[in-house]
Amino acid sequence: MISAQVTEAGRGLCLRDETGRRTRFHAIWLRDNAMDAQTRNAGNGQRLIALRDIAADTRIAAASVEGATLQLTFSPEGNTIGYDLDWLFANAYDHDRHREPGWTDPRIETWDTGLQSSLTNGGFARISRDRDALRDWLSGLARHGVAKLSGGPVEAGALFTVVDLFGYVRETNYGRLFEVRTEVNPTNLAYTGLGLQAHTDNPYRDPVPTLQVLYCLESSAAGGENMVVDGFAAALRLRRENPAWFDVLAKYCARFEYAGSAGVCLRSRRPMIELAPDGELIAIRFNNRSAAATTDVPYDDMALYYDAYRRLGEIIDDPAMEVTFRLDPGECFVVDNTRVLHARKAYSGAGTRWLQGCYADKDGLLSTLAALEAEPRMAAE
Ligand code: FE2
Repeated sequence: MISAQVTEAGRGLCLRDETGRRTRFHAIWLRDNAMDAQTRNAGNGQRLIALRDIAADTRIAAASVEGATLQLTFSPEGNTIGYDLDWLFANAYDHDRHREPGWTDPRIETWDTGLQSSLTNGGFARISRDRDALRDWLSGLARHGVAKLSGGPVEAGALFTVVDLFGYVRETNYGRLFEVRTEVNPTNLAYTGLGLQAHTDNPYRDPVPTLQVLYCLESSAAGGENMVVDGFAAALRLRRENPAWFDVLAKYCARFEYAGSAGVCLRSRRPMIELAPDGELIAIRFNNRSAAATTDVPYDDMALYYDAYRRLGEIIDDPAMEVTFRLDPGECFVVDNTRVLHARKAYSGAGTRWLQGCYADKDGLLSTLAALEAEPRMAAE
């Protein structure tokens, strides 16, 4: 049984459960979050009023609990509005939450090389027709920031059918897709088949492309495996080793730039480790090829900044952090480019390799996933 008590001369409300535990709300918050038909559109859930329509001195004149509903009468409006108690407790904010900088959303899981054996890998045909399978695949991708897909068509442009599963292509100056073709000549390996350090793509854009799809169409060269590293895991390891290193990369902006083709001059100013104002780890940017001169770190912190940057790179290069896999024709992988770094290992023999890549946006993927999660599962569990 829940009891309700008006507090602070009507400016507050205190709910108590049978154990005496209290959960407090403000009158202005309650009025703003009303779900009645005058406040919210019943069809699309959008709010019909602005804060300016609610009096600044809004107070609760009366409160009562009737079953699973809290009834509140507001002054000076004089209206009575019902609130679902389960909704109120699910959205309560009366907590004293201490979170360390670098905390992550509970829906994600950081990983190291241990993910190798359990990397999400879906079958293209099944995921294309089975919504439960699609949901499971998207869920793995959202949780780990990377997933493989196998058994797709071996034809140019097939990567768009992958994006169609969850969202929309993000076109850039590189086109709707870009070609990654390599001819590996064993007498000239040092120039053509070199491995690349793990990186996030296009940090010089603002916003960055949040997803990347790399789709394999030809792969006859030995070596050239793809490798991914969880940038969040790397940043958190950096913090465990030395919090000052983590803090300095989060505190100051790096600069990134790409002006490699005519008519293009992309520049951004963002930190390598990006935190939300409350310390949530929200993005990693790491790309030696497009790093511009760092000019936002004061002289007194620059040596520390470089120590931190070097150590983050060493952690990213540590094989204990990486998951590697080979892409065969008809296989692809998708990475969350705000979190997971990707790289290509060096080649060790002759042959060709042809991949196509494109970008897409994570908000569309998360929207599709959330909508699927709200549906009942088709298969009996
Ligand atoms: Fe890349």
